Amino acid sequence: EAAKTAYAPYSGFHVGAAVLLEEEIIVSANNQENVAYPSGICAERNTMFYANAKYPEHKPLAIAITACQNGKFTSNCISPCGACRQVLLESENRYKSPLRILLYSENEIQVIESIKELLPLSFSMES
Ligand code: THU
Repeated sequence: EAAKTAYAPYSGFHVGAAVLLEEEIIVSANNQENVAYPSGICAERNTMFYANAKYPEHKPLAIAITACQNGKFTSNCISPCGACRQVLLESENRYKSPLRILLYSENEIQVIESIKELLPLSFSMES
């Protein structure tokens, strides 16, 4: 549903994300592009920032991500870009809890138990 309302007139790549928070709250959003390309933002960051802005007291437990092109889900899963991985890592560190990542596509579903699997040797507060 979130991917359907993405604003992606430049790439035609519609990404949707949904963050599950404690108390079964779900926040969803999508990518928002801009004619000045770097001013746009990915679905994952947009969604996590909104979840953190609206429900700062609720721990994010999982994020689901999917993408559509020409009205169809991609054949295989897409996974978050580097900048989004860094933002998702911040959530794990802030709330001291692993964030499960669910990737959905036409042919496969992938479940990753922690963003640390996608961002090894990361820069964090301990650094
Ligand atoms: N995009 C996302 O929203 N999430 C990803 O994981 C990869 C890429 C967006 C950015 C841009 O609006 C479009 O997809 C094409 O890269």
